[in-house]
Amino acid sequence: MKYGHFDDARREYVITQPDTPLPWINYLGCQAYFGIISNTAGGYSFYRDARLRRLTRYRYNNVPLDYGGRYIYLRDNETREFWSPSWQPTQNELQDYACRHGMGYTIIGSTYKGIEAHTRYFVPLDENLEIWQLTVTNHRNTKAVLSAFASIEFCLWDAQDDATNFQRNFNTGQVEVEDGVIYHKTEYRERRNHFAYFACSEPGRFDTQREAFLGRYRGWDRPAAVESGELSNSIAHGWSPIGAHQVNLELAPGESREVIFVLGYHENPVDEKFDPPGSQIIDKRTVKPLIAKYLRREEADAAFEQLRDYWEQTLGVFQVNTPDIHTNRMVNIWNAYQCMATFNMSRSASFYESGIGRGLGFRDSNQDLLGFVHMVPTRARERILDLAATQLPTGGAYHQYQPLTKRGNNDIGGGFNDDPHWLIVGVSAYLKETGDWSILEEPVPYDNETGSEQPLYEHLQRSFRYTLSRLGPHGLPLIGRADWNDCLNLNCFSDTPGQSFQTTTNREGKVAESVFIAGLFVYAGRELAEIAQRRGLAQEASQYRAEAAKMEDVINEHGWDGNWFLRAYDNFGAKIGSNECEEGKIFIESNGFCVLAGIGLEDGKALKAMDAVGENLATKHGIVVQQPAYSKYYLQLGEISSYPPGYKENAGIFCHVNPWVMIGETRLGRGDAAHDYYSRINPSAREEIGDLHRCEPYVYAQMIAGKDAPTFGEAKNSWLTGTAAWNYYAIVQWILGVRTTLNGLQIAPVIPKNWPGFTATRMFRGVTYRISIERKGSGNDIGLTVDGQQIEGSLVPVPTDGRREVGVTGVLR
Ligand code: BGC
Ligand code: NOJ
Repeated sequence: MKYGHFDDARREYVITQPDTPLPWINYLGCQAYFGIISNTAGGYSFYRDARLRRLTRYRYNNVPLDYGGRYIYLRDNETREFWSPSWQPTQNELQDYACRHGMGYTIIGSTYKGIEAHTRYFVPLDENLEIWQLTVTNHRNTKAVLSAFASIEFCLWDAQDDATNFQRNFNTGQVEVEDGVIYHKTEYRERRNHFAYFACSEPGRFDTQREAFLGRYRGWDRPAAVESGELSNSIAHGWSPIGAHQVNLELAPGESREVIFVLGYHENPVDEKFDPPGSQIIDKRTVKPLIAKYLRREEADAAFEQLRDYWEQTLGVFQVNTPDIHTNRMVNIWNAYQCMATFNMSRSASFYESGIGRGLGFRDSNQDLLGFVHMVPTRARERILDLAATQLPTGGAYHQYQPLTKRGNNDIGGGFNDDPHWLIVGVSAYLKETGDWSILEEPVPYDNETGSEQPLYEHLQRSFRYTLSRLGPHGLPLIGRADWNDCLNLNCFSDTPGQSFQTTTNREGKVAESVFIAGLFVYAGRELAEIAQRRGLAQEASQYRAEAAKMEDVINEHGWDGNWFLRAYDNFGAKIGSNECEEGKIFIESNGFCVLAGIGLEDGKALKAMDAVGENLATKHGIVVQQPAYSKYYLQLGEISSYPPGYKENAGIFCHVNPWVMIGETRLGRGDAAHDYYSRINPSAREEIGDLHRCEPYVYAQMIAGKDAPTFGEAKNSWLTGTAAWNYYAIVQWILGVRTTLNGLQIAPVIPKNWPGFTATRMFRGVTYRISIERKGSGNDIGLTVDGQQIEGSLVPVPTDGRREVGVTGVLR
């Protein structure tokens, strides 16, 4: 069953039933101020860092699901009845409920007893605030006497501390109210120079103390103050500061009114915190004009139009028209949009990531660039330099860093031996997109230590060398804490309940090896060789090639199982992912990545491996991680075997790695198989099975339960997953074949046989390429004509005569 529909023309997903199987969320903000918002207005906001600068509270894992948010209530002052136009939290039966999740905004509304109300939530570009535009219309034929209430609950900044340190926090909460604006200033008196505010365009009453608003032992579904119809102008002292506004509205029949609320974050210079100086009153000189500006309707509308233009341009970098609507919709709208979210959030804040547990991942953020770099290359550049600055002098990496401090930490472990290579992959994607070679000269420190700066290029060299000094008994890379699969913990050996698989190490780590890292090493080594070659370092380039070739030999000798690539060797030197194993005989990662890297294309291994994946791992809902699933806990394998069969890394359909197989299939020239795999996990193509899939039909989920799971086909962990970038990269660069290279744009589609062709527009290094592909035979041989001239090969030359538009026609035979 479907819970809504796509409105592609407006780039929206329209949810028409509020009780979706899970909260279906969207992101507000795309630069520094962010929020998550569900289809019933649940969610929270933060500035830059979901853990350290949380503006509003949210309750995880709560009943009812998805509780706490940007709630608006309407009250009919004649009948005293009140309701929420967004359904939650009051859950009245509404008419015409609709939530439109769009690009950086969400509009939620409904009609109840003749009163229509909807709220448009968004974050203006370049501002650290969000606007809620509430429109209320009276469709009755009598006058309506109403009150509107808007509410949020402030978080005391550090979301982790806020959720745990009550003995202190029940005492620290402070607010100020001036000219009807509520200022949240907890800890402003001491070391903070930032505060939050919640303002309303209309005069009215307010509350800032949670208990005054909700009443004792009540929830957000039945606030006492809304029930009584009058807020009490309460001032919070400690406990839980909130922001609530009341606006009284009398609407004639047919009349509409708009009320604007602004929630924001503001910083003052450290020496200009108070006004007058020496007092304890917030200096509001710089914030007041901002608040006044966005409480004006024309300004709010103009900001919304700017946001629309921004997305029009951002998505305009690549647009495609294929015979498959699900491909078009994902590539043109939602997959690209999701890539923005993963770039901004990494794996920190979603309905499945609390914003507390994980910052920006080193491996994750580098891979996220694959799907993002074409949209805002300047931000990709900054991200690369930030990531590289957390690299350790050994070439190794912290597994994550906090966006606010930009410092690496070991909270979720370190010593994952694949990490350094992803930096090469990320930088290479950036160079291919932009041709900006200057980035390689940028001085970047190690571990953020001033004085340790080296050109970014040296960081890449160290990434590569990191593996050379960490080879195991077979000459394959030692796995360290784990590789891409965080749960393949071969040196962990944990038998203690509650111990973290991510930070526990009980073995020296001198034996367990990863074939996946070997494949990644070959891939990254060749990318680095190309970069070196282009920089005129021919000898260095051939060294990288030689190391890659040597590793390829090792893979052929010790990483091949006869019909597929092995996965790893464990701490005892025993094979993982081999036909000899009882469980976990074949894995997706090493097969996908080795073939993606071009290993075995010549000698038939790649073909065998992809066929074996198809036979053993592919299901109608996607390709599972391994088979057979681990039926019990294996001390020597770690977290992977901690999951019940079919879930997460234990034979779940980990969508992130499916595209490696899709790319592998394109390398074999099998466009039908590649696109078929693509469609199996494409959320839009799964919309009809909403009750099974359960997650949002407009974004990829990290995981779909595998065939061993009782809930085979059920998705989880939507939004923040490497799936976004990799699927985008696989469909755009390998299946559609519109591929960036260091030397320009390559056009080499490997599309399904029954596609008559496709058209696309790509802006690349300042030039717009209008591409039209026509199929005249069933193969993948391409003949290209560029602005009327036939060219050799598949690389479109970069125009040297100042042309800004280039027409490319391709014929596939
Ligand atoms: C999950 C992984 C995740 C890891 C690191 C594990 O519990 O299964 O998918 O990467 O935690 O936080
Ligand atoms: C999620 C993590 O964010 C990612 O880094 C990892 O590769 C996958 N899980 C697989 O374990």
